[in-house]
Amino acid sequence: MKGKLIVFEGVEGCGKTSQIQLTQEWLQSFNTSVVVTRQPGGTELGLHLRRLLLEAGSNLIADRTELLLYAADRSQHVEQVIKPAIREGTIVLCDRYTDSTIAYQGWGRGLDINLIDQLNAIATSGLQSDLTLWFDVDVEVGLARKRGGGDKFDRIERETIEFHRRVQKGYAHLAASYPERIVRIDGSLSQEVVQQKVQAILTSKLKT
Ligand code: TMP
Repeated sequence: MKGKLIVFEGVEGCGKTSQIQLTQEWLQSFNTSVVVTRQPGGTELGLHLRRLLLEAGSNLIADRTELLLYAADRSQHVEQVIKPAIREGTIVLCDRYTDSTIAYQGWGRGLDINLIDQLNAIATSGLQSDLTLWFDVDVEVGLARKRGGGDKFDRIERETIEFHRRVQKGYAHLAASYPERIVRIDGSLSQEVVQQKVQAILTSKLKT
């Protein structure tokens, strides 16, 4: 198999992170070279940025600053991790990518989508995902899952329910706009059923 970028996306608590782990195990079971990584926080610099972005007080980061910090994380991550891995023929499973910025900073914060598209193009130097899996779950369900997990909410998770609903709308709009690249999976199903769907989609989409 050639190197590919496969992205896992969705609102808080959509189950993407567990699905990435299961997908990695599945791919490794037939000796595929695979790496799991994430945005923000997939590099050493990115870990600092992730901490700044998620642990800061609610009013400490202006919306455009937030946008630029996510872009900085992405730029470093694409250069340092994603591109080299793809060049080596590795399958990269990435927890969030450019669509997160459109959903969260575009739809959630209300920043200009065209501007975000341009910034995403700069940060990735044009590298798009080969496939993006969108785990679609109601925002209330997702947030309740997170709360049930016992972790303290971070700066973005603490946003209003309206913010999270706008983010969700953003994902729905993206999936409708890019049906070739983005595949919706019902994230409310059981973990096993969701994983079966992921495997079926990857099997049919990634034959080349
Ligand atoms: P995670 O907890 O799923 O790893 O995501 C980190 C948080 O950062 C999550 O609340 C979504 C948010 N985020 C953005 O707002 N914009 C972005 O571009 C990315 C990658 C994440």
